[in-house]
Formats: sequence, C-alpha cells, structure tokens
Amino acid sequence: MGSNYALFVCISLMMSATSAVDVHNIQELAAAKKGSDKFISIKNLHVPAGVTLDLENLQPDTVLEFAGRVTFGFKEWTGPLVRIAGKKVTIKGKPGHVIDGEGARWWDGKGGAGGKVKPKFMRLKLDDSVVQDLHVKNAPVQMFTANNCKNLVITNVNLDNEDAHKNRIGRNTDGFGVGDSKNVTVQNSRVYNQDDCFCCGSGVDIKFINNICIGGNGISIGSMGSNRVVEKLTVRKCKVISSFNGIRIKARKGEKSSVSDVTFDDIEIKDIQHNGIIIHGNYPTWHPTDEPTAQCPIKNLVVNNVRGTVQKGGSNVWIWLANGAASNWKWNSNVTGGGKKLACKGIPAGLKVPCGK
Ligand SMILES: *[C@@H]1O[C@H](CO)[C@@H](O)[C@H](O)[C@H]1NC(C)=O
Ligand SMILES: *[C@@H]1O[C@H](CO)[C@@H](O)[C@H](O)[C@H]1NC(C)=O
Repeated sequence: MGSNYALFVCISLMMSATSAVDVHNIQELAAAKKGSDKFISIKNLHVPAGVTLDLENLQPDTVLEFAGRVTFGFKEWTGPLVRIAGKKVTIKGKPGHVIDGEGARWWDGKGGAGGKVKPKFMRLKLDDSVVQDLHVKNAPVQMFTANNCKNLVITNVNLDNEDAHKNRIGRNTDGFGVGDSKNVTVQNSRVYNQDDCFCCGSGVDIKFINNICIGGNGISIGSMGSNRVVEKLTVRKCKVISSFNGIRIKARKGEKSSVSDVTFDDIEIKDIQHNGIIIHGNYPTWHPTDEPTAQCPIKNLVVNNVRGTVQKGGSNVWIWLANGAASNWKWNSNVTGGGKKLACKGIPAGLKVPCGK
C-alpha cells in the first residue's frame, strides 16, 4: 500500500511537471497550437489592438489554460477579441487569472447602437468539450457567445461586467449567448451585466442550470424569427436579481419560428424592474399597444415554481400572444410586487395564469 502510494505521488508529480507551452506573446501561439504537448497556457498575454486571439483549430485532447492577466489593445472594431474552436478540448482558467477586456475604454452608454465601434469579446465553437473556471471581466459589448456547438459543458464561469453599471455606461453586454447548437449546458456560473444574462435564439437540448444573473435583462429565449427553432430548453435552479426582466420569450412580429418543450423550473427573481415573466409575440416592441402575431408557436411550455418580486412600477406576469400561438402549457408561478396591471392575451384555454394581477 505504502509503496503504491509513493509511486502514485511520484507519477502525479511527474504529470503535473509535464511542460505546458506558455504563450506570453502572440507570436508563440501558432507553434504552441501545433505542439505535441497539447497543453497550452495563455499566460499574462497582451493581445495587440485589432487582433483576435486565435485559439481555433485546437488539436483534439488539448488543454488550454488561461493564467495571469490576459489583456487586449484598444481599437474601434467589431472583434471578437477571442475566438476558440476545436473538438474534444478542455478550456480552463487557473485560479487568480482574469481575461480582462478593459471595456471602459469603449463604454459610452450606447452599446452596439452607436458611439464607439466595440469589439465583441469571446466566441466559442466547440464540440465534445468543457469550458470551466473562467473569469471574464469588462467586455466592451457581448461577452460570451457559443454558436454551432455540440455536446459542450460550460461550468463555473464568471462573466463580470459590474464595473459598467455606474452611470449605465455599459450596454448590450449580453452574457451567455447560445445559438445553432445541440446539447449545450451552462451551469454553476454567474453573470453581472447590462443585457440578457442568458439568451438562446436557436438550438436543441440546451440547459441553463444553477446560475446567478445580476443587473442585466434576465433569461431569454429569442428573439425568435427567421425560421429559427428552439427545442428542448431547460432553465432550472437559477436566480435573477435586480434585472430589467426576469424570464422572457420574445418572438418577432410576422416572422416564422418555433419554440417547443421549454421548462423554467425553480427560478427565483428579485427586484425586477419591468416584467417578472414576459412572453410576447410583438418584438421588437414590448408594449400592449402593439399587436402580436402568431407565426411563432410556443408549445409544451412549463413554468414551474417561478417565484419572487417585481418593483412597484413593473408587472408580475405579462403574456401577449396572438390566438393559437400557445399550446399545452403548464403554469405555477408566484411573482408579486408589481403594481402595473397589464391585460394579457393568447393564454391557452383553460389554463390559469396570474396575468394582470
Ligand atoms: C451531451 O453532452 C454531454 C457532455 O458533453 C455528454 O456527456 C452527453 O453524452 C451528451 N448527450 C447526448 C445525447 O449526446
Ligand atoms: C407568494 O409569495 C409571497 C411573497 O413573495 C408569499 O407571501 C406567499 O405566501 C406566496 N404564495 C404562495 C401560494 O406560495
């Protein structure tokens, strides 16, 4: 037993001593990606202005680690600042690391709608992979997008744009965006931002589990349109705090798309400004003066144990769909505090939804 243990310790030490290829400047990156070590450490790297940190074409079984402080030069451009792509890879952060966009250099309160041209931050295209323990800070705009991914788990990722909150200088700093993907789970993570915390515009078998959202625009499906499909999406055990909306499904007016087999379960919302739960078919507006359309069926929706509070000026639950768009829903929510009583429409016949209360 004793000697086996000693041998094990010895092997572990040897393994942990296998050389990571440290990348301190961008010139070293191409060689590191081709190397036989398959362990790349992006360490205290400064990425020059206007250049994407190109972490694409990673070899299968690569472990890519971020260490120290990774920063980017300033330029007005659309980015992204970081692009990661591969199959069967592990992306992780070493304790104490930060991927710092230093977004304050771009923030002007206008987000993607004007002012300085702002680079998107991180874009992922990964299959059969894991992303874990990342600390991403101060994105100029959109923080973290996973498009065309399959069998991906994102766990313990901290998207921290709290610094952009002062004077509302940060805008469109969406947290996790998932699109055109299959079997993607985002879990055990935290987002402090100024737009959607999590947003899925298309995909199958997507999960958002045990996450905390602060300051932004809540958890959102859509905007649906352009024939996009969201199927089998589960949001469970999440908290949405001090945000504009709590949970939301939004469909664009007059555009075909579909949402099915969606579950929101065990969600706590707190201090929501606008709507605790909002499901509407008149995007890009969200006002009862604008009629919804029925081109986006929303079927097999479960809202279960969604609870918490809305500010006095907001409304607890608002559903604004054209007749026939919604079918086979189950509903159990307890959202209180909102003083704005909006009429609802398009709720499936026979279902009790505390709308307008
Ligand atoms: C979904 O992805 C996870 C994690 O990569 C994997 O373990 C699981 O087998 C996948 N499920 C399906 C149905 O492919
Ligand atoms: C609904 O929530 C309020 C507080 O937000 C609580 O007082 C009330 O008991 C809850 N109702 C049910 C049926 O759980």
